[in-house]
Amino acid sequence: MALVTSKEMFAKALNKDYAIGAFNVNNMEIIQGIVAGAQAEKAPLILQVSAGARKYANPIYLVHLVQAAVEETGLDICLHLDHGADFDICKKCVDDGFTSVMIDGSKHPFEENIKITKEVVDYAHDHGVVVEAELGKLSGIEDAVHVSAAEASFTVPEEAAEFVEKTGVDSLAVAIGTSHGAYKFKGTPYLDFERLKKIHSLIPNTPLVLHGASTVIPEFVDKCNQFGGNIPGAQGVPEDMILEAVKYGVCKVNIDTDLRLAMTAEIRKYLVEHPADFDPRLYLGPAREAIKGMVQHKIKDVLNASGTM
Ligand code: G3H
Ligand code: 13P
Ligand code: ZN
Repeated sequence: MALVTSKEMFAKALNKDYAIGAFNVNNMEIIQGIVAGAQAEKAPLILQVSAGARKYANPIYLVHLVQAAVEETGLDICLHLDHGADFDICKKCVDDGFTSVMIDGSKHPFEENIKITKEVVDYAHDHGVVVEAELGKLSGIEDAVHVSAAEASFTVPEEAAEFVEKTGVDSLAVAIGTSHGAYKFKGTPYLDFERLKKIHSLIPNTPLVLHGASTVIPEFVDKCNQFGGNIPGAQGVPEDMILEAVKYGVCKVNIDTDLRLAMTAEIRKYLVEHPADFDPRLYLGPAREAIKGMVQHKIKDVLNASGTM
């Protein structure tokens, strides 16, 4: 049993109404919770590691834990670098056994983004690894005062077509109104579906990626707040918008914040209700179960609500 790339997963998902969940991992309990949720749904899975996760856990631990998950479950799992900032980190991950890397050149001018993406694509493809790139900027509510300001940083469909043609990238993250974290919208959530449809129509064979796609599930936010947390006004991408996005080329849906909230809510609750306990297994166990339940819900009711996975 070995890790797989996302090539086959995306090829199958591209013209069907479902997407693969890409979940961020930072430690053993998070990995086990996600994998158990995907296993219960018999779903292929992308586990992704950010630069912050590499720094926190030391990548060798994460790589081995993910390999253990493949061995234990036999699931198709792709190990992906999330938001690689430059060639060096992408190369390191390719050399470490990752099967997919993201080169995030979105902060660079268009031509520079093409140049560094192409460099990563050449190296990764030579080593049998696939590459995700990003075009356009994901802005949070603090970054954009109103929708037109946010739209200025959205992906330009014609540029997306030129970018894919010139880089040979395997998948493309697009900016259509989502953002990272728990505070995605101030008022009514808005995603630019017309833009997404246009991008998909120009590059119908390129799997698209939705970053910042957590729903910020109210149940977990409320539970955090009920047990001593302070997360007011958090709001994510409504589930029906994810259901819509998967119809227009979105094959990979990135989720981290919902994992963090599910885990933290459960730990807060446990510690408040059991003030005398201090064995970490007693609160990390329920936290792992909460992650499993959340991931199962995501796959069953959102990512694969069409049942075509
Ligand atoms: O893209 C953002 C992910 O949620 C990873 O977050 O950089 O804090 O690990 P992080
Ligand atoms: P969320 O913050 O919405 O979970 O997004 C995670 C992400 O895009 C990781 O790359
Ligand atoms: Zn992201």
